[in-house]
Amino acid sequence: MAKQEKELVSQDNAQGSEGLYAQALRAGLFQDRRVFVPLEARTQFFNESFISIDQIKSPQQIESLFEMADVLEEINQSGGVYSPLKDYFITELFWENSTRTSLSFEAAAKHLGAHVAVRDGMKVFSSATKGESLEDTIHAGYNVTDSDLIIVRHHKDNSSQRARGIAQQYGIPVINAGSGSKEHPTQALLDLYTIRRIIGRTDRLRVMMVGDLKNGRTNKSLAKLLAIMDPNVEIIFASPEQLRSPQDFIDDLTPKVGSLTETDDFASWLPHVDVVYMTRVQKERFKEDEQDLYEQIKDMFIFTPEHMAMMQEHAILMHPLPRVNEIAYAVDNDPRAAYFKQMRSGLYVRMALLHEILVGHQIVTV
Ligand code: CP
Repeated sequence: MAKQEKELVSQDNAQGSEGLYAQALRAGLFQDRRVFVPLEARTQFFNESFISIDQIKSPQQIESLFEMADVLEEINQSGGVYSPLKDYFITELFWENSTRTSLSFEAAAKHLGAHVAVRDGMKVFSSATKGESLEDTIHAGYNVTDSDLIIVRHHKDNSSQRARGIAQQYGIPVINAGSGSKEHPTQALLDLYTIRRIIGRTDRLRVMMVGDLKNGRTNKSLAKLLAIMDPNVEIIFASPEQLRSPQDFIDDLTPKVGSLTETDDFASWLPHVDVVYMTRVQKERFKEDEQDLYEQIKDMFIFTPEHMAMMQEHAILMHPLPRVNEIAYAVDNDPRAAYFKQMRSGLYVRMALLHEILVGHQIVTV
C-alpha cells in the first residue's frame, strides 16, 4: 500500500468508513495510482466565492483546477460513480437567458451527486417582476432551498459582488455565471481548458478576439486569464470601431501582456494566430435608439470557409456561443472548429470548480 494510501486509511479510521479512502476506492482512483491529497492541503478555491478572474492568484491555481477536470472527465467517461456532493444543495438563479452555462452547471452538480434547483428566466418568471431586489432574491435563494452554493447570472456588472455580499451572511459561496458586460469567469476557464486540450499549452500563445469586444464579457474574462497564465501573451482585438474594447479595460490589460493590438482588419491576422475567438454582436446591450447602429454593424465580421483556409493547421476557431451570423455553418466540420468542444469542456471545468469550492481537496497522481 502506498504511503498516501496508508495516510488516508488512518484518516478514514478517524472519520469513519465514508472518509476519503473509501471515496477514492469507490471512484477507482487507486487503480492508476491516483490519490486524494489530505484535507489539510485545501485548494485555493475552497469555500470562496468565484466572481472574477481578478481573484486568480497564479497559473498553478488554474493548472491544478484543470488537472482536477481531467480526472473528473476520466471518471465520468469510464462510468465511475463519484458523488462527493451528495449531501450538498446547489441553487441556480439566472436573470439573463442561458443554454450552456445553466445546463452545464446543473449537469456538473448532478454528476457529482448534488441536489440542484434551477431558476432560469428570472426576469420574467420570478418575483423580480414584482420589484424584488437582487439582494432579497439571494436571501430567498439561500433560505428557501437551504443552499450550500448559489450560482448567479445577471445583467448588472456588479451583480455577483452584490450577491456575494448577501451570501457571505450565510457563510456560503457564490459563482458568477455571467455578469453584465464585464465578467464571465467560468467561460474563461473552459475556454482556456479547451486551448490547453487542443493546442497543448496555455502560454506562448497569439490569440485574436473578434467582434463585439465592447459589450462582450467572455472576451474580457479570457484576455485577463491569458495575461495571468503568460505575461508575454500576444493579444489582437479585432472589431468595428463602434465595438472596440472599453479604454479603461485596454489601459488595465496593456501592461500585463506581451503585446496588445487593436484593429478592424481581422482577415490579415488569420495566418499568424494560434486562436481565433469570434464573438456575437450583443443585440440586447444596444439601447432602443441604437438599433439602427446594430443593424449596420451586426454582420460586419462573418467567418467563412475562405477565412478558415487562411488559418494555420494547428490553429483553432473558438466561440463562446450562442452564434447568430458570425460563423458560417459551413466551417463547423473543419477539425479546427473548436466551439462544440468548448461546451463539453464546460461540463468538466465546472465539475472541477464545484469540487474545488465545496470539497476542497485535490486528486493527484503518484
Ligand atoms: N457561452 C455562454 O455563456 O452561453 P449561454 O449564454 O448559453 O450560457
